[in-house]
Amino acid sequence: MKIVLGCDHAGFNIKDAVIAHLKEQGHEVLEVGTFSSDSCHYPVFAHAACEKILDGTCRLGILICGTGIGMSIAANKHDGIRAACCSDVFSARLTREHNDANVLCFGERVVGLGLALDLVDAFLSAEYANEGNHLTRVGMLSEIEKGTF
Ligand code: RB5
Repeated sequence: MKIVLGCDHAGFNIKDAVIAHLKEQGHEVLEVGTFSSDSCHYPVFAHAACEKILDGTCRLGILICGTGIGMSIAANKHDGIRAACCSDVFSARLTREHNDANVLCFGERVVGLGLALDLVDAFLSAEYANEGNHLTRVGMLSEIEKGTF
């Protein structure tokens, strides 16, 4: 799977290990920065990553900042992006299965590398249920985005 990965300076220390892990699992990774530990602004990288999902270049995204929260707020401003900030494996799996989340966010200051990789694995190995109430509810999310709800 082709996965876009973005981070800010507060996610910079963990991102190379996440990328290496993704590649070990056979995924292709498109990095959209940041590319140094200098202080920067998370919406820039959230936006760059979301564009790569919305234009079809990448199927899913991973965004890392200090808490994961800024990245998830920025990503969720985009029509068609469902970003979930997770710090437990159960949520990382369920947000794919129930919410059809297409972006996983987490915080380098919140989770350690071991948990980060487990979050990634849970997120990427789960599949959206795509039926019943889950389909209805995700459809409602799209209607909210389009102003037709
Ligand atoms: C950067 O200091 C920090 O605010 C940012 O990485 C993120 O945690 C914001 O939500």
